[in-house]
Amino acid sequence: MSEYLRPAVDPRALRDAFGAFLTGVTVVTAHDAAGRPVGFTANSFASLSLEPPLLLVCLARTSRNFHTLTNAAGFAVNVLAEHQKDISNTFARPVEDRFSGLDWQPGPHGSPILGGVAAWFDCTLQEVVDGGDHVILVGRIESFENGKANGLGYARGGYFAPALAQKAVAAAGGDVTAGAVAIRRDEILLVEKEEGRYALPACRLSAGASPDRLQRYLTETIGLPAAVGFLYSVYQDSRSGEQHIVYRCELGHGEPRAGRFFPLDALPLDRLTDSATGDILKRYAAESRIGNFGMYVGNEERGQVHALAQEATR
Ligand SMILES: Cc1cc2nc3c(=O)[nH]c(=O)nc-3n(C[C@H](O)[C@H](O)[C@H](O)COP(=O)(O)O)c2cc1C
Repeated sequence: MSEYLRPAVDPRALRDAFGAFLTGVTVVTAHDAAGRPVGFTANSFASLSLEPPLLLVCLARTSRNFHTLTNAAGFAVNVLAEHQKDISNTFARPVEDRFSGLDWQPGPHGSPILGGVAAWFDCTLQEVVDGGDHVILVGRIESFENGKANGLGYARGGYFAPALAQKAVAAAGGDVTAGAVAIRRDEILLVEKEEGRYALPACRLSAGASPDRLQRYLTETIGLPAAVGFLYSVYQDSRSGEQHIVYRCELGHGEPRAGRFFPLDALPLDRLTDSATGDILKRYAAESRIGNFGMYVGNEERGQVHALAQEATR
């Protein structure tokens, strides 16, 4: 088929389909001509060759650091560890100095190596290959270290951290309330509770029950096809002592039988049943503005299950 007869591809639908591929998350770093450290978040990293030792990463032509990275002597790939979601967000946002307050040092071949990463690779730039609206940076690995920490995961626009999530769910123990950040494109479904206040759709899960119960609840009560995704938040309501586990869920087409959809930029933040729901919705809306979504709030230092009061201080 000629180029010209080829049906148009919807870039957003294509991006969503690419997002089905589970990846890790890296921060690619280098120095600019003035010696300042630069870096951006990338999940297009792939191993390429063992002999010679090569890796690749795809860089958007629109990157502010396009010239720097394609002309650098070398670059480093930092594989983020499970608790480094905030670093990923910093290096994906248009922050002026992404390295401010960060623990890093020059690698053996000069490019910035971040502290606490799961692994790093310090490379010389071997080749820049054309790739449509991106280029492929091929790096020759000059030195590397395998830090052994579990890597942060990324799929369907959201982070996940399997080992931390497992610990959080185990720590919750007992009966829990399973809630859903139930999304469809750029909208979230909320259910109306007492006095016109809104809450996340949620059901009770008895100890050890599978989150399939939440999927059934969404399908039966909300009346829409639902897919339960990765864990988004785990917390304990300090007033009731109730444990909450919130999953990210995708809803399918149709009119909901219960609840209503709110656009992400018009969420009823002043009409929610509790402040934890507000924190979750605000975080989700903020993360969706940079095109990616947080996974869940816990990390190893802070513990995986928090009281609401602690949650609100972040
Ligand atoms: C999880 C994740 C993965 C990303 N992967 C890539 C990537 O592989 N290549 C890329 O060019 N941008 C990627 N981005 C987007 C860049 O990080 C983002 O556009 C950043 O602001 C670019 O910064 P710069 O313009 O300063 O280079 C990714 C963002 C996220 C959140």
